[in-house]
Amino acid sequence: MANKAQDNERLTVVIFGASGDLTHRKLAPALFHLYKTGALPQICHFVGVARSEMDDASFRESLYTGVEEAEIGKYGEWAEFASRISYIQGSSTDAESLQRIDSAVSAASTDSARDDRIYYLALAPHLYAPTLTALGAAGMLDQANGFRRVVIEKPFGTDLASAQKLNETVHSVLQESQVFRIDHYLGKETVQNLLVFRFANTIFEPVWNRNYVDHVQISVLESVDTAGRGEYYDEAGVLRDMMQSHLLQLLALVAMEPPATSTANALRNEKAKVLQSVRKYNIDQAAENSVRGQYQGYRDEEGVAESSGTATFGAIRLQVDNWRWQGVPFYLRSGKALQSKVSEIAIQFRPPPHTIFETHGPDVTPNLLRIAIQPHEGVHLTFENKKPGTRMGTAPETLEYHFPPQVIRDSYERLLLDAIEGDQSLFTRSDEIEVSWEIIDPFVNGWHNSLKSQLYAYGKGTRGPKAADEFLGPVRKWHDDREDEG
Ligand code: BG6
Repeated sequence: MANKAQDNERLTVVIFGASGDLTHRKLAPALFHLYKTGALPQICHFVGVARSEMDDASFRESLYTGVEEAEIGKYGEWAEFASRISYIQGSSTDAESLQRIDSAVSAASTDSARDDRIYYLALAPHLYAPTLTALGAAGMLDQANGFRRVVIEKPFGTDLASAQKLNETVHSVLQESQVFRIDHYLGKETVQNLLVFRFANTIFEPVWNRNYVDHVQISVLESVDTAGRGEYYDEAGVLRDMMQSHLLQLLALVAMEPPATSTANALRNEKAKVLQSVRKYNIDQAAENSVRGQYQGYRDEEGVAESSGTATFGAIRLQVDNWRWQGVPFYLRSGKALQSKVSEIAIQFRPPPHTIFETHGPDVTPNLLRIAIQPHEGVHLTFENKKPGTRMGTAPETLEYHFPPQVIRDSYERLLLDAIEGDQSLFTRSDEIEVSWEIIDPFVNGWHNSLKSQLYAYGKGTRGPKAADEFLGPVRKWHDDREDEG
């Protein structure tokens, strides 16, 4: 529920890096929709900061394109919202620019009891640390007359050492309670539904463990290629771009123990704990427990090195060394330029220990629970049923629930509102980030340095390298959209 502010409370959202794609495609539409639905404090202002030369009018106009595409509201409604947006040309690391921003925000707040601020770092990651230091030095993180919260986009570091260093900088100017490290997957309706599904029902939790589960698959497959982000992507690759953040967060939600309460810390304690239980490989073990691929034509893209060895597809096998999951492999798979966009978690249950139906066809199909994160958000449970007829035969059938499409809002909306309300549940804590890098770093290094890791080529628009099927096989197979098409 939106927590309405008092009449004399004032919120300012300052977006650093406001001329970029994220502001246009995600932040402006999300803030506009929140405003339109009355979720924001009555007195709210938005300040875009970037180096480009623009005035308020041209900045507002440039933002309207994203809002129009998202089909959120009429131009009249937008114009009312847009009158609250201003633009300041400057740099997030420059003391003089910050002083101008600070004065502008403070000057507009003289009529308010509080001057609450969110600083959103929609910046190139190398600017996070210098920006935080500069904000601290300018006194702009001081919370004497209102909260100061900082939203930091991913990637948070490029490995364990850089993430630790960034966390040190963060903690030198901010308390952890002021920090909102965003992972937009946590804002997705279906990802939050994982918590409800697991902890608001009684029938799943008793079988959610090594006694019943054969393995877990977490797939985030994309049909888009690097979409003009070749330079960033060539440094990141699928491990840093997707696995370290989105896929490991999904794993944490699937595998964690029930939190003691629904508070942010209780939830984050459990996520951190299960990530700590994930086995840390050496580089050879990481290479043996993974398959990597690169789509054909990737090296011709702008910003990509001619002989790039960056993986655009990866499948990795993790083990969670705790009482609940010992011996149950977790397969994480993600890639670009694949045949379709599917994000899904599949819980593959074990077959029955003994079947009495063997004279009537092949073995029974083990139960399967598929949580469709996107598209067609919902839950599918496959179970055996009697094949109608005079004989005793079995066949799998699926029960499905799908969220009505109109209830699915963009995840940035939920996350921005949570940051405004100070709820950190869906943001990653420093320890979660660091342990995620501990898990991923050996894969990054193994893919570069171990002779056991080969880079497989795959065609654009395919299911990725065949080696990924062999990696899972011969008995197990990936559950993805092919079955829906059949
Ligand atoms: C981003 C990655 O974090 O997530 C992108 O940087 C990726 O490369 C995107 O395309 C996927 O998000 P979604 O919500 O479209 O599945």
